[in-house]
Amino acid sequence: MHDSQQQLRAMLDALGITPNILERRALAPYEPARELQLAEVDRHGRQHQLIPAAAAAWHDMKQAAAADAIVLEIVSAFRPLERQAEIIRAKLDKGMEMDRILSLSAPPGYSEHHTGRAVDINTPGCEPTEEEFEHTEAFSWLCREAHRFGFTLSYPRGNAHGFIYEPWHWCYQPGGGKGEAR
Ligand code: DAL
Ligand code: ZN
Repeated sequence: MHDSQQQLRAMLDALGITPNILERRALAPYEPARELQLAEVDRHGRQHQLIPAAAAAWHDMKQAAAADAIVLEIVSAFRPLERQAEIIRAKLDKGMEMDRILSLSAPPGYSEHHTGRAVDINTPGCEPTEEEFEHTEAFSWLCREAHRFGFTLSYPRGNAHGFIYEPWHWCYQPGGGKGEAR
């Protein structure tokens, strides 16, 4: 096993996420992004990073949405393994069951947010990362237009990964949308 794999296994062990649990959920491992750039500073002053191609596509998409009077904001973008572990630890500390936790959050090493291509999106007046985002004009706009910029919805209802429906979580695919929107 490589050092990085051993570190990840230790991180998963510390959270109680066994190889068995991972197998049952058929999750894909993701390499953490190597090159990142600032994609957005949110209204709370938090900095959100994406890989350069995803950041450029995000800017183009945000601008196109604004031209249609739609405000798109990043709630979360790149997350290192340690941050994903903290998110899970916080839920464990609140007494949440592992099955429930893993329907909300991917184990460290298995979150699309590690790739620097995934964004959690919100729009003013909506509670972030809640299903109500589905009923916003921003979501309707994304469903119509996001593909032109290479972004797709990762976790629709009934997704194979066992995650809840996440209308806010979109992921940029390398080469996606090229030649159409940019
Ligand atoms: N909420 C998504 C599944 C994640 O944690 O990556
Ligand atoms: Zn997400």
